[in-house]
Amino acid sequence: KTQQLKVVPVAGRIGAEIQGVQLSGDLDLTIFNEIKQALNDHKVIFFKGQNHLDDASQEAFAKLLGEPYAHPTVPVKDNTNYIFELDSERGAKANHWHTDVTFVPEVPKYSVLRGVTIPDVGGDTVWANTNEAYEDLPDGLKKLADGLWAIHTNEYDYAQFKPAENIDDEVKKKYRDIFESTIYKTRHPVVHVHAETGKRHLLLGGFAGRVEGYTTSESERLLSIFDSYVTRLENTVRWQWSEGDVAIWDNLATQHYAIADYGDQHRVVRRVTVGKDVPVNKEN
Ligand code: SIN
Repeated sequence: KTQQLKVVPVAGRIGAEIQGVQLSGDLDLTIFNEIKQALNDHKVIFFKGQNHLDDASQEAFAKLLGEPYAHPTVPVKDNTNYIFELDSERGAKANHWHTDVTFVPEVPKYSVLRGVTIPDVGGDTVWANTNEAYEDLPDGLKKLADGLWAIHTNEYDYAQFKPAENIDDEVKKKYRDIFESTIYKTRHPVVHVHAETGKRHLLLGGFAGRVEGYTTSESERLLSIFDSYVTRLENTVRWQWSEGDVAIWDNLATQHYAIADYGDQHRVVRRVTVGKDVPVNKEN
């Protein structure tokens, strides 16, 4: 059946809702290309009411965007090939600013996230545009960032973030032990040139722990200056989930933060990540 796609921006700098599409693994190529274009233009796109999707058809759709692959340390959800499930009752709450899986050399290009169980109130996700953040830097800071490399690791300091609410320590520890079951440390340029758009982006977030050539405290201060440009509210979009919504983001063009403000209500989202890129800064 013919689908009429409409792109409706939902914030000034990042984020658009795509209307008039039923996502599936056999989407019409023209429609798919329009979705891809919207993703390049808006960095994160939202689809409401995709309640027809199950795990298998979410995976089939995600495959159109690139080769899917499992999370490096967290086992895939039962009966799926690639799905990374974040279930609040198992301690999985991504309430820190990050780009997905930057602690490995090849970083996922796209993430496709489906809202499965959504709290009545709370549990929104916020995304930020890392290209606009770079462009906002004063020239001196741009030059500095262009020459820097940061070490990304999954052994990051959870204690520095406000702990997720109402999850007992045992549950949190268990999840963290799985997440950190293999420790990765990878150096990436602080600024990378996007393989598809050619735009320059800051590549930092929660897994970036140390800037090469600087002490720990200097690194912290440098990272907090750069990250403050990423997470400035004007540079973000916030999505209020309903069950069946799908968000797709250009992982190498964004950071995101899942707000853990829903107490002991249950929240489950399922993610498929596809494609891989080794981030490069052509000036390094
Ligand atoms: C994630 O970090 O990929 C999950 C985001 C969310 O839970 O909304």
